[in-house]
Amino acid sequence: MNNKPIGIFDSGVGGLTVASAISEKLPHESITYLGDTMRVPYGTRSPETVCRFAKELTSYLLQNNVKLLVIACNTISALCRDEITKYSRVPVVDVVTPTIRYVASNPTIKRVGVIGTSATIQSGEYERLLKKYRKDINFFSKACPLFVPLVESGFTNHQATKLLIKEYLQPLIHDHIDSLVLACTHYPLLKPLIRTYLGKEVRIIDSAHPTAEAVYEVLNRSDLLNTDSRQPIYRLFFTDLTKQIKTLTSKIWINRKTNVKKVSLTL
Ligand code: DGL
Repeated sequence: MNNKPIGIFDSGVGGLTVASAISEKLPHESITYLGDTMRVPYGTRSPETVCRFAKELTSYLLQNNVKLLVIACNTISALCRDEITKYSRVPVVDVVTPTIRYVASNPTIKRVGVIGTSATIQSGEYERLLKKYRKDINFFSKACPLFVPLVESGFTNHQATKLLIKEYLQPLIHDHIDSLVLACTHYPLLKPLIRTYLGKEVRIIDSAHPTAEAVYEVLNRSDLLNTDSRQPIYRLFFTDLTKQIKTLTSKIWINRKTNVKKVSLTL
């Protein structure tokens, strides 16, 4: 048994979609979340910069004594999962690997579309990993660079967002995808609009639930699960904290007694 918190990080608030799924799957686990809201978005930056920022977030959470790290960001997972895993002294779970495994294990998925940040799509990581498990799947992808700024600005039900969804997703509809992977942890916040645009036929998959399963498996295998039934402690740290971030946080991280704080990465 281990009652230290799970450390979860992202470039901003999007990773809270993963943190929520983890706290639902593992209600006894304490969580320390770190969102780099001061420097979001990461997905338009170079791999070197993303990895440098990601290492800073990793160090901060390690210094806060976490027992496991979750990279709740597809961009960081696609660009520097191996670097972070080498750098970390605790086990690391990323969001890309569990999502790919989930897709690959479903034989009814034949034509998959993947949407993500420019950095994630340009990395080619989703296609490379997916083809490793399932050579028969047809793969299509589209970078949607404006989705993260729209979500961080709270435009989750805005006319401009609807227009961009059409602009970005139309080519994938023409490719006759049967499933769409939301390969960015911010995108689940656009799910209702994406669902309306796609209709019921296309399956929508996000990283949250496959990642929560992977976290459970790693904790269980490493004998790190918390079996103590006391209330878990939730701490949400952001490198910048505005009214907008607080509003978004309360939309994603619902009904949990939580300490929300602005932090500086230099301890
Ligand atoms: N949530 C991050 C992801 O999953 C967003 C990256 C960004 O900041 O652009 O990729």
